[in-house]
Amino acid sequence: MVERFLQNLSMKNITPFAVITGASRGIGAEYARALAAQGFDLLLVARDQNRLKEISKEIQQTTSIQVWTEALDLARPHAAETLYSLAQSFRPHVSLLVNNAGFGLYGLFADMSLPTIQDMLQVHIHLTTESTRLFLPDMMNRRQGAIINVASVAGFFPIPYMAEYSATKAFIISFSEAVAMEAKESEVTIQVCCPGYTETDFHKTAGHCPRHMAPPHTPQDVVQKSLKALRSQQTPVTIGWHGLATQWITPFIPKKWLMRLSARFVRSHSSSH
Ligand SMILES: NC(=O)c1ccc[n+]([C@@H]2O[C@H](COP(=O)([O-])OP(=O)(O)OC[C@H]3O[C@@H](n4cnc5c(N)ncnc54)[C@H](OP(=O)(O)O)[C@@H]3O)[C@@H](O)[C@H]2O)c1
Repeated sequence: MVERFLQNLSMKNITPFAVITGASRGIGAEYARALAAQGFDLLLVARDQNRLKEISKEIQQTTSIQVWTEALDLARPHAAETLYSLAQSFRPHVSLLVNNAGFGLYGLFADMSLPTIQDMLQVHIHLTTESTRLFLPDMMNRRQGAIINVASVAGFFPIPYMAEYSATKAFIISFSEAVAMEAKESEVTIQVCCPGYTETDFHKTAGHCPRHMAPPHTPQDVVQKSLKALRSQQTPVTIGWHGLATQWITPFIPKKWLMRLSARFVRSHSSSH
């Protein structure tokens, strides 16, 4: 799919253009590196402008693509409209939108800070839904384009002590799968990418230090699998055997067992409990 984009767009003499949220580090920065290597011009968005500039500088040392960076707090109301206007100010058409920005929250839901919960609802639910609504029509009209919404295996079932996180990621999975079917006729791919435990700053930011039985994925594992899967319009996309096992086995396990097991796992494998 990525290669097909390039072929189609180069025929019209247009460089493909990708918008990536949460591109200042981790998985988002890796999407930026991988898409730059495929010849995409990029709009990179996150709050940390210094880190965005570093990623942009790194990319521009090895490619001749254009990279725009913008410091934007995506938890603010109307962030999706701001993102859309920004993208429009650089290019009339977006070939690929990667809704990757996100963060984790661990602990007793009743103890969690309400503003942080509100930020999570805004970034995971509002931004994903509203930006998909804003960017999708032009892709459908042109019968070309893709949206990757980054969820998590944590969205496959409810997880106590990660209630808010797993519920918002479940929303992203359900929403993306439904809209993906609607968009398929217009040849637009909507992928929901569901990584498992991946080695990034995510866990440190969330104040949680998981110790898993399986080795963590690297951001490169996640991005390579996600971009490769665009070709086949596969969705949801999981990474590695444990991701696949979670996706296929959990629907057959009683939800209460899963929740009890995962609650025990999150509490006992967390440095913050
Ligand atoms: N790492 C894992 O184990 C794992 C597993 C499953 C799913 N995921 C998902 O993968 C995605 C990327 O996470 P990661 O692992 O790469 O974590 P990360 O290294 O902590 O990166 C998170 C990115 O999101 C951005 N972000 C967070 N809140 C934002 C806000 N309010 N406004 C703008 N940008 C914001 C951060 O940028 P700034 O701080 O500069 O704003 C950063 O670029 C997330 O959606 C996460 O839920 C991660």
